[in-house]
Amino acid sequence: MGFHGADTGYATHNFHAFPAKFPPQLPRAFIKTLARPGDVVLDPMVGSGTTLVEAYLAGCAAVGVDIDPLALLHCRVKTQPLPPDALRRTGDAITAAAALALMEPGALDAAIAQRFGAKSRAFIDYWFLPATQRELMALLLAVEQCAPPAQRDFFHLAFSSIIITKSGGVSLARDLAHTRPHRVIDKQPRSAVEQFARRVQQNIRSLRELPSRRIPAQVIQGDARRLPLRANSVDLIVTSPPYASNAIDYMRAHKFSLVWFGHPIDDLSQLRGEYVGGERLSDAEFLALPPDAQRMVNRLAAADAKKGRVLHKYFSEMKQALAEMYRVLRPDGAAVVVVGTSVMRGVNVETHACLGEIAQKAVGFDLVNIAERELDRNKRMMPARFGKQRGSQIEERMHEEYVIALCKPWDAGYEPRARRHDDIPATLRD
Ligand SMILES: C[S@@+](CC[C@H](N)C(=O)[O-])C[C@H]1O[C@@H](n2cnc3c(N)ncnc32)[C@H](O)[C@@H]1O
Repeated sequence: MGFHGADTGYATHNFHAFPAKFPPQLPRAFIKTLARPGDVVLDPMVGSGTTLVEAYLAGCAAVGVDIDPLALLHCRVKTQPLPPDALRRTGDAITAAAALALMEPGALDAAIAQRFGAKSRAFIDYWFLPATQRELMALLLAVEQCAPPAQRDFFHLAFSSIIITKSGGVSLARDLAHTRPHRVIDKQPRSAVEQFARRVQQNIRSLRELPSRRIPAQVIQGDARRLPLRANSVDLIVTSPPYASNAIDYMRAHKFSLVWFGHPIDDLSQLRGEYVGGERLSDAEFLALPPDAQRMVNRLAAADAKKGRVLHKYFSEMKQALAEMYRVLRPDGAAVVVVGTSVMRGVNVETHACLGEIAQKAVGFDLVNIAERELDRNKRMMPARFGKQRGSQIEERMHEEYVIALCKPWDAGYEPRARRHDDIPATLRD
């Protein structure tokens, strides 16, 4: 299950950087063996939509839930076929309109001043050079002016992808998609308009690989601990939750784009508290855990009381998320949960074993297997280590991950839903 060296950039998978997305071969393998065309495949923490795209390609009814507005944008765009010629025309119109707008810098400065509140403005001023701010504002206005609503998400994602990149993004942050942002004062960002135009061409080419005769994917903003889905309505779940202890803080990077889309900084900070794995302990719920998971919490608490509570919170949140997966899954349906390891204060918290135990003993799943998978560090973007500073803990937690295979036991009273044959694209019918 290493998939090292495999092509992970086909179809729409490479539209935008996203930390810790899994190789498409991973959900693909499970969807191929455990689902049929027409089946409902869910990822309740869908991230950049890898499971969603693979389920869509396989002719399944793909459903993705996430709390993060940028993740949802990824998912909508990556599963939405659009006519390439129309996109190309709009893309050209946007770059032309942006170039024109840049001839009046004063008007762009006024638009920036009018659009953003004080906190968002301070954030933008700190992280973006004035010249880049004008380019980004010009692009945003041009998207609003030139792109019909059905195409807007496509261009917004391309816009975001030039800010949040593995290297060389247009903000002053170093390596934004990879790690904690560090401001580099002497960075000379490239032209945003040029980067945007290049990215649009690239994404249009990739979008051609997305077939249109498939069941439209559903992308839902929601919380994995309270899924807005009916009981027994899902055939297969393939998901990878956040790491314990906030090893990857999605909002920290995503706000670099979301602020431009008009999300006030305070709202984003508020939302950040809702992410599974966050370290904010006020109003956290601490649920009863099965023995091994509780022992792990106690062991960590002995080394660091606060970290112990953070881990307890994470296991509690995952218990709720697993209970929701159980509820929405049909009897005999499978849930595949991919988790990383974490070393906190020198304690290997064995997330996989603890979550397996919680799923089995506290939620009611059959635990089918826990398999280890070595990470391809070049592919699955993980926090990088900077020199010898505090990074060693992060390093320690990122070498491998685990695939937990769960099954909801059969229920004699359960009546399977009729397969909606018409839902299945004709080219994929049995
Ligand atoms: C490891 S990423 C998923 C990556 C995904 N497998 C991919 O290939 O892109 C975990 C995701 O969980 C989401 N998440 C965190 N807390 C959540 C919650 N309470 N409800 C739903 N999604 C949540 C994060 O926003 C993030 O997108």
